[in-house]
Amino acid sequence: MLFLNKYAIGKIDQGVIQTAVEKAYQLVLSQLYNMPDRMHVEDRENTLLLMPCFSEKFFATKLVSVFPEARQHGQPAVNGVMVLSDNTSGQPLAIMDGAAITAQRTGAVGGLGVKLLTTESIQTAGILGAGVQGLSQARYLLYNREIKTLYIYDLSNDAVAGMINTLKQEFSDLEYVAAKTPKQLVVNSKVIIAATTSKSPLFEATPDDILGKIFISIGSFRPDMQEFPSIIIERADNVFVDTLFATKESGDIATPLKDHVIEKDSIKEFAGLLEKNEIFENKTILFKSVGMALFDLTTASAIYQLAIKNNIGQNLEF
Ligand SMILES: NC(=O)c1ccc[n+]([C@@H]2O[C@H](COP(=O)([O-])OP(=O)(O)OC[C@H]3O[C@@H](n4cnc5c(N)ncnc54)[C@H](O)[C@@H]3O)[C@@H](O)[C@H]2O)c1
Repeated sequence: MLFLNKYAIGKIDQGVIQTAVEKAYQLVLSQLYNMPDRMHVEDRENTLLLMPCFSEKFFATKLVSVFPEARQHGQPAVNGVMVLSDNTSGQPLAIMDGAAITAQRTGAVGGLGVKLLTTESIQTAGILGAGVQGLSQARYLLYNREIKTLYIYDLSNDAVAGMINTLKQEFSDLEYVAAKTPKQLVVNSKVIIAATTSKSPLFEATPDDILGKIFISIGSFRPDMQEFPSIIIERADNVFVDTLFATKESGDIATPLKDHVIEKDSIKEFAGLLEKNEIFENKTILFKSVGMALFDLTTASAIYQLAIKNNIGQNLEF
């Protein structure tokens, strides 16, 4: 049994993770996987998600909790454990840091969104939320596009300063701006990624603020959470979700559906984009991600195979 902590997982190349996420979407297209809707156990503001999934060679379960106030106790909001097993013998193969897997694969989900929904010429971007996922979104955004100015906004100025400091060490060739308001960020950015724990839309917008832009929402994963104002989905030319479960799970989709702002059949699965070479020029696009166990499975199996090959991690005996 291999044990992989966050340092071991952090050694894996971003390209490997993004390819693993792409593989998950390919499995969606071929339907060669077995994944139930994930189970939510809610306890006041806190949530435990149980995320099992089978593919041909492996199966995995992620037990992940989201405690929005965890930082007050010195813990990240997202915490958890990932177990990867062999799908022939049933043998557990690896235990991994579930928070690290989540951060990496979620960054890559956003990164692939940027890659397939934006043109290579985009120069401005904004990240709302300077927490764990915000940082990972920025890393995969900058991995995919040569951004010249990156705006970052968070309720906490310290979180923004910390994130800029971290990013500068890895990506030094761009200007970082600590936005004073979410609106300033939105007005100045071509692609806007939200990765917050907010329950209500992060800004109000006029059509001029949003048209022709790409909006990626990573945060809201409960019907009582929403990051973007409904005007975005109402005016969007295209709406994509990483899994159709998002239409039930996230307030960014469930609320506009309930309010009849949009109809369900205008919402498309992101996986469909892998089959076409569609280029989106000056379109208003919303991509809502809630995440799915299949991403964790393909990411964990890619990491496991590399770790075995390169002798990374610790062996544990049961
Ligand atoms: N789509 C996915 O697959 C996926 C995966 C993991 C986590 N998530 C979700 O992403 C969200 C963020 O997770 P995290 O691990 O980065 O949490 P985190 O606590 O590390 O960061 C959240 C940040 O959002 C900021 N924030 C909260 N409300 C805000 C507001 N109104 N305006 C601006 N900033 C605000 C906080 O100050 C904090 O810095 C959570 O809701 C989590 O469930 C989604």
